[in-house]
Amino acid sequence: MPRIEDNARDEHFWHAIAERYDVAPGPINLENGYFGRMTRDVAQDYQRNIDFINRNNSLPVRQHFDEIQSIEIRDRVAGLLGVAPASVALTSRASDALQSLIRNYNGLQPGDQLLICDLEYHSVAYAMRWVAQQRGLEVIEISHKHPATHESVVTRYREAFERYPRLKLMALTHVTHRTGLVLPVQDIVAAAKEHGVDVILDGAHALGQIEFDLQALGVAFAGYNLHKWIGGPLTLGFMYIDPQRLTDIDPDMGNQHYPEPDIRNRAPYGTTNIPAWLTLPRVLQEHLDMGGTQAKGARLNYLRDLWVSEARKMPGIEVLIEDDPRLRCAITSLRFTHLQDQQPMVERLLKDYNLFTVARDGSACGSCIRITVGFTTTLDDINQLVNALRELSQGN
Ligand SMILES: Cc1ncc(COP(=O)(O)O)c(C=O)c1O
Repeated sequence: MPRIEDNARDEHFWHAIAERYDVAPGPINLENGYFGRMTRDVAQDYQRNIDFINRNNSLPVRQHFDEIQSIEIRDRVAGLLGVAPASVALTSRASDALQSLIRNYNGLQPGDQLLICDLEYHSVAYAMRWVAQQRGLEVIEISHKHPATHESVVTRYREAFERYPRLKLMALTHVTHRTGLVLPVQDIVAAAKEHGVDVILDGAHALGQIEFDLQALGVAFAGYNLHKWIGGPLTLGFMYIDPQRLTDIDPDMGNQHYPEPDIRNRAPYGTTNIPAWLTLPRVLQEHLDMGGTQAKGARLNYLRDLWVSEARKMPGIEVLIEDDPRLRCAITSLRFTHLQDQQPMVERLLKDYNLFTVARDGSACGSCIRITVGFTTTLDDINQLVNALRELSQGN
């Protein structure tokens, strides 16, 4: 078994992995953060499952999926996190899980405070503000400076906990979609606990590219999807609730489908994408064939470090994420320092260099360009990016 770092550089291995994907001709995709591609095998299995369910309609769903397969699938999802199946409920996306946790958390009294930061995903920030408005709570919004350090992020939270003694609940994003910063979850959760603040963790971008142990992180409530770095069909997500904290989350909209106590009542009720869920065993097999989270994360970090190490030397470009291995992942944003709005550079990267990226704003550090490598990214793609950044930074 090669060392994980050697495997990350093994172009032969990753070329074979890239060959598992069907990729349409077109721009080089450096925006792999929206959702992950499925491998050809997964896409074919998904198509078979669509055909099967479409031909057979509700019969196999009522006889097999509802009572048997959905339980087996939940066991598989729980296994992915190394947690008890009773702590997992399937949802259609991370947002469903997170919104349900936020709106059904029952430990809040009028006048209590909620905490969010500038790096939260929209659906999470919206839900926190909405809950506050409905229940007479106050939302405290903090921001982080970039480039952030482990210390600067933890200190920012510690200051907030000390300054706002009525804080009861906070959102925390494991990997922010804006800049790619990996937040030091374990230390933040520990500090929150000291101040009696509960944490709802948004793990959408962490699962499949960052190894973590939920129990070690100290997280009681979390939401995930399987369609980013695990490689499942779109519309697969789940929530996690520490079984000892289940009563802190009310059933969603009065859901009584399962005899209480049952975490599945905390998930929004409704028909799910059954063919997509039936594809999960194939998805998890592919994930393992690629070496699982450890190998995938190491490859993504290797590719990311290749372009970042060059971009750092370019005057006029600021890379927003430090190289601290605890803070970086496949996603890293940068800024051309002479521009307020980075969108024109995104357009030039596409038009002049055939590189597809995305501008992100909303974080206190301002507009930035998000570059996200993926499993089909090649060394040629990275060279193309580095050349483009060099030319653009020289004002070409
Ligand atoms: C940080 C983060 N959280 C949550 C989500 C929402 O995930 P989903 O599309 O599964 O609702 C996203 C999606 O891009 C995200 O980037």
